[in-house]
Amino acid sequence: MRMVVLGLGYLGATHAACMAELGHEVLGIEVVPEKRAQLAEGRVPFYEPGLPDLMKRHIDTGALKISDSYAEAAEFADVFFIAVGTPQKKGEYSADLSYVDSAVEELVPMLRNDALILGKSTVPVGTASRLSERVDELAKDVQVEVAWNPEFLREGFAVQDTLHPDRIVIGAFPGGQAEALCREIYASVLEAETPMIVTDPATAELVKTSANAFLATKISFINAIAEVCDAAGADVTAIADAIGYDARIGRKFLNAGLGFGGGCLPKDIRAFMARAGELGAAEALTFLREVDNVNMRRRTRMVELTKDVCGGTLLGRRIAILGAAFKPESDDVRDSPALNVAGQIQLQGASVTVYDPKAMNNSRLLFPTLDYATSASEACQKADVVLVLTEWPEFRDIDPEQLGTVVRHRNVIDGRLCLPKSEWITAGWSYRA
Ligand code: UDX
Repeated sequence: MRMVVLGLGYLGATHAACMAELGHEVLGIEVVPEKRAQLAEGRVPFYEPGLPDLMKRHIDTGALKISDSYAEAAEFADVFFIAVGTPQKKGEYSADLSYVDSAVEELVPMLRNDALILGKSTVPVGTASRLSERVDELAKDVQVEVAWNPEFLREGFAVQDTLHPDRIVIGAFPGGQAEALCREIYASVLEAETPMIVTDPATAELVKTSANAFLATKISFINAIAEVCDAAGADVTAIADAIGYDARIGRKFLNAGLGFGGGCLPKDIRAFMARAGELGAAEALTFLREVDNVNMRRRTRMVELTKDVCGGTLLGRRIAILGAAFKPESDDVRDSPALNVAGQIQLQGASVTVYDPKAMNNSRLLFPTLDYATSASEACQKADVVLVLTEWPEFRDIDPEQLGTVVRHRNVIDGRLCLPKSEWITAGWSYRA
């Protein structure tokens, strides 16, 4: 089948390459020239395991083409995925839908055949309905259907999550072609007995928002328990393990530590709160504000802990920060808890050196005033305290004895509860978490 993907960021580039992998003919539209140039050569402008191979292969065979032209898109196919970004608005909690709106405004007047627009971007409930009305105004003598098909991919597992999703959700208005066309698009995925939930667009939009809100809540729940553990001298990891055996609770997303960041969970729970407020249902989500608060407190707590380990002041201390990406297997530093902590510590007068296996370039762009090293060992030279803030396997495997020879003081703070504590203590380190 022929299809167009509008917007080739994490979501769109992955979706476009995976649709080609499923045997479709895909045209990807990207308006940022640098990104487009790289993608057109089969190179991926961000770190995502497995995606470069897929991208290169399908660009080479011609199954995936890249362009900036909406006119070309309108001619190419009758199915259009919207995969543009919906970032948090500056100074507000709500989502910025300007990229979604522009895609529709530009595309629809050019359509010469009946078409289906499938939204993949995470949007506030009611967006599909609003766009559907707008599309009716913009369409010239053609029927254009709008439906929502939210995406649940995780960075670092984006290809796997797209080709082998837990479920496919289609939110369609009655009487349209969306369900039938999606059954065709995802035929091979559905053959693997992937559940498909067909619902109305508002429900589909809310499925996505609710999933992310639940994941955020789970992380903040265990971090709230961690606060109590700190006060009571109890072990939060053992608690997570023990309660996680209850199948109703589950062990996943119960890792306490520095909390969640990234381009999705923080902005999505805030947009959810804002939208609930607009709908007059804010009270139902007041706990999400606390989820956000618990999460942000983790960052200040880490700064306080570091200060504590430094004897009450950060002024003039040397702090090594291992990890900058918001999670391992990613070079994404959007709302990265690690960089947030690095920035706060530097502002309090410490000299901060950061190392991350993949996120160095993005970190430099976002926080140019921090110092950066080319290895963990280099970052830790003469450090008073070493902070592990992203749980890369490389940091888990560090030899504490060897690292102990380069630091000034053997102080480590394990911000992700990922280090083998007893090995570090045996090697003479003071270990805090
Ligand atoms: C998330 C959702 O998982 C995905 O389904 C959705 O489509 C997009 O948002 P992603 O942003 O890639 O995916 O990251 P995720 O793996 O969910 O991690 C988010 C953050 O939570 C990271 O900063 C991670 O370090 C943190 N986290 C995760 C914890 O602090 N503890 C955990 O137990 C799990």
